[in-house]
Amino acid sequence: MRDKHPIHTTLSIDAMRILERYEKELGSKNTVLERALMGMDKLRFKEKIDTQSISRIVKRVNTGIPGFDGLIEGGIPEGFVVVVTGPPGTGKTTFSLQFLLEGIKNNERCIFFSFEEMVEQLIKQTVRFGCDIREYIDKGLLEIFGFSRFSAEEIIEIINIFKPKRIVFDSLNIFSDTSDFRRSIQWRNILKEIKDKKITCFAITEKRYGLESREFDEFDFMGDGIIFFDKRQKHHLDPSPTYFIQIQKMRLTKVNEMPRAFIFMDHGIELIGATNLDKKIAASLMDQKPAQEQNIMDCIDSTDENKRISLP
Ligand SMILES: Nc1ncnc2c1ncn2[C@@H]1O[C@H](COP(=O)(O)OP(=O)(O)O)[C@@H](O)[C@H]1O
Ligand SMILES: [Mg+2]
Repeated sequence: MRDKHPIHTTLSIDAMRILERYEKELGSKNTVLERALMGMDKLRFKEKIDTQSISRIVKRVNTGIPGFDGLIEGGIPEGFVVVVTGPPGTGKTTFSLQFLLEGIKNNERCIFFSFEEMVEQLIKQTVRFGCDIREYIDKGLLEIFGFSRFSAEEIIEIINIFKPKRIVFDSLNIFSDTSDFRRSIQWRNILKEIKDKKITCFAITEKRYGLESREFDEFDFMGDGIIFFDKRQKHHLDPSPTYFIQIQKMRLTKVNEMPRAFIFMDHGIELIGATNLDKKIAASLMDQKPAQEQNIMDCIDSTDENKRISLP
């Protein structure tokens, strides 16, 4: 309907509604009315916004990963698209499945779009960490699309029918033109649907480099948040690497960017020092330093050859 941009985008929602209703009746854009409404719009800029009111307004979504939500003021702001990224084999899919299972616990409907793995394999992976998701699929709380080959329109249709509160896309790198994905009309349409419906979404992307690199790819610019996964092996044959997670960005949130070590428990990922984990395990994993004091530069930029990150 509105064929041109509004002359001012800070009209309150109520004033915008009035404007749009009149413009619909008139069949054209009406800048005079828009200006008049701006003058009368008492709510414009008047809403009290401070740290406390933001904390009150922003609803936070629990991730279900022990120790994680405390690093981001209690959870991911509802409706955020968070880029979950890192090299292969670092825990991104496990973390994302755990995030959906937390939603299911709260009776939220969830969708997992996997572009590369089959449903059976994903089910096995969840059974591996002590949770058989088939019962949630049967109950209608979870929908998994293995090896998805959907168009944007189909994805939007699925979202409209299933009405999820949480979605995972694993991984976006499958799209051929990844350099332009963020700007593509297909992604913009899906994003609008996600934002309109306040769905909290993890978009997994793959990196060819680890935390030591300061590089970014196009996907890093498209999210409200970035969670980076990595692992470190003492040498390239080290059978038990230390896994790391770093929150590189989370809008509306004071973020603790210190990389944190995590381990795979039988029931999924858990941050070290999160609960009642044995401090001795933490210390041995972190080369005798407590997790909180561990500086990633110690881990990564060390001149000690044995301490370099070695990717699989
Ligand atoms: N329960 C577990 N215990 C130990 N290691 C695990 C467990 N689950 C996954 N892993 C390890 O994590 C890696 C893969 O995790 P995944 O979440 O699929 O990573 P990504 O999606 O980043 O490729 C595997 O290499 C596997 O060794
Ligand atoms: Mg994966």
